[in-house]
Amino acid sequence: MAPGDYQQAYRRSIDDPEGFWGDAAALIDWDVAPTRILDRADAPFFRWFSDGHLNTSVQALDRHVAAGNGERVALIHESAVTGSTTRFTYGELTDLVARFAGVLADQGVERGDRVIIYMPMVPEALIAMLATARLGAVHSVVFGGFAPNELALRIDDASPKVIVSASCGVEGSRVIEYKPMLDRALEIAGHRPECSIILQRPQAVAELGANDRDWHELMQGAHPHPPVSVKATDPLYILYTSGTTGKPKGIVRDNGGHAVSLAWSMPNIYDIGPGDVWWSASDVGWVVGHSYIVYAPLIVGATTVMYEGKPVGTPDAGAFWRLIEKHRVKSLFTAPTAIRAIKKEDPDGTFIQAADLSSFRALFLAGERLDPDTYHWATDALGAPVIDNWWQTETGWPIASNLRGLDPMPIKPGSPTVPVPGYDVRVVDERGEEVPAGTDGNIVIRLPLPPGTLPTLWNDDARYVDSYLSVFSGCYATGDGGSIDADGYLYVMGRTDDVINVAGHRLSTGSMEAVVASHPMVAECAVIGVQDAIKGQLPRAFVVLKAGADIDPLVLQAEVVADVRDQIGPVAALNSVVVVPALPKTRSGKILRRTMRGIADGREEAVPSTIDDAGVLDVLRPLLQS
Ligand code: COA
Ligand code: AMP
Repeated sequence: MAPGDYQQAYRRSIDDPEGFWGDAAALIDWDVAPTRILDRADAPFFRWFSDGHLNTSVQALDRHVAAGNGERVALIHESAVTGSTTRFTYGELTDLVARFAGVLADQGVERGDRVIIYMPMVPEALIAMLATARLGAVHSVVFGGFAPNELALRIDDASPKVIVSASCGVEGSRVIEYKPMLDRALEIAGHRPECSIILQRPQAVAELGANDRDWHELMQGAHPHPPVSVKATDPLYILYTSGTTGKPKGIVRDNGGHAVSLAWSMPNIYDIGPGDVWWSASDVGWVVGHSYIVYAPLIVGATTVMYEGKPVGTPDAGAFWRLIEKHRVKSLFTAPTAIRAIKKEDPDGTFIQAADLSSFRALFLAGERLDPDTYHWATDALGAPVIDNWWQTETGWPIASNLRGLDPMPIKPGSPTVPVPGYDVRVVDERGEEVPAGTDGNIVIRLPLPPGTLPTLWNDDARYVDSYLSVFSGCYATGDGGSIDADGYLYVMGRTDDVINVAGHRLSTGSMEAVVASHPMVAECAVIGVQDAIKGQLPRAFVVLKAGADIDPLVLQAEVVADVRDQIGPVAALNSVVVVPALPKTRSGKILRRTMRGIADGREEAVPSTIDDAGVLDVLRPLLQS
């Protein structure tokens, strides 16, 4: 591609979205090709390719087999925790997915039904996702680090016909039993699925109840199920993500826009095509896992690496680089936190120097802000471009990136470069007015959003409009703040709401506050993200005790931490609870969380004149910044 291609593609995508995405639709093998590209009939609920029909598992699997590439490796599963490597060709994976679709159909799953998948990073998680898609059903993957209570919330919201789970996951050297967590979630939830299908793993074999079926037994007699053609606008999956309240948001992804946007993103953003080996070191429970472990690499006929393990620990901080050497990986995608964890263990990059990285072309990082220190360390150690890309569960694919296939641009540390074609990104003040270049504000995207982005929230159009579309007129509010410089480069500084990012995991401080406040000794509390050298942010609870409460602060901390682990899950990583005499408030009694967040981020805003006692902040300041 030639320099300037970005400008041309970007302008066309904004000025003529029908033309731009109509052309991109040719990347997909439709059952019925769409003639209506952008459907504005029900605005602000915009729909893409609304009269097209397709099946997403066919895009990811069957079409490559039909094209004669059935022998190409589709999936390499690497487990550092069990010491295994397993390869699946496109032919083998298509067969397994078709047979598991048969299993799900035998359990009564039909087009439009929901299937919850609560699994560790095993190939069967990917197989279950694609098998659900093959039936035209809707999967909802729940991250394994969430507690039964969070799983129960999702079971009640998605009302699945079937749940697919495993006996256990393995975290480092610890075996985490999933089945008791699933059983507990089903006790809490009101909704009753028809059955649960359990993958028995040798590390912990689960006891199966009357409503449980054994994955392996069902697969033995399974018949392949043909793909079910669905409308482009039919839902492919629901992925729950943290909002400001305790109730997670069910982000809906459709079939057609999703397939087209991912097929476009792989060559243009990530420079990945058929036969390339691509490794996204994330988890299928997050959006990065959905888009860039499972769907996008398979849709373009690449080889995807799926990794069960951490960047450090088991075996050591060299695991990533040895895997790149072993599988001749072209590009790696992970979160900055993983690189910071590696840097801490191997500051001189000794493991990197010991590996043959001749296949390696680029490191892509997303999920949280890429701090310039981490950027510089990785660039120097790897001798390869390090590409920041910014997006969200809601969008499903990058909003801003350096487009490595379309038109590589100079990198500016701290910036994910430029808006990706399709996204009309603006920075506005509180009144919705655009701010001058270089000025901080709210990052918004003018409607319509491009294909692949959320059409709505599951069963909650009103919350979709309320949360995203009614804040700034004609725009989608991203919830992130930042600026655009004079060259058009975007800088994303962090959330403007009560969402925090812990080790690349998006969490709601509001839901943690609900748990902390339920402790019998706590009168009121605020949970704020404070900076952490490895995880980026860590939640810290500031609590005011009830009058007359008498409890050792360490006992209180232990109890509150246990409550949060129990109610939300270990992934919440709340391990610090600080007792304070008071929280800063406005005269009307509202806790000044925003001011506290600003202090924690080192971007202290002027203390509002309405604050009752500015001295309270002096007590909090060192606790927020340490
Ligand atoms: N099932 C069960 N428990 C899980 C889990 C899962 N799938 N994933 C995480 N947990 C648990 C961990 O065991 C840990 O529990 P502990 O407090 O008892 O030790 C807790 O949740 C926190 O996990 P994590 O955030 O992963 O922290 P860590 O200290 O174990 O590892 C990193 C830190 C940086 C190495 C790790 O977070 C990492 O590799 N992150 C990569 C980022 C990523 O994948 N982001 C996704 C978006 S791209
Ligand atoms: P999630 O929905 O879990 O992918 O989290 C999305 C949020 O993570 C965004 O709204 C940002 O706050 C943050 N985020 C993701 N990628 C980046 C990035 N490259 N730079 C800055 N923040 C990011």
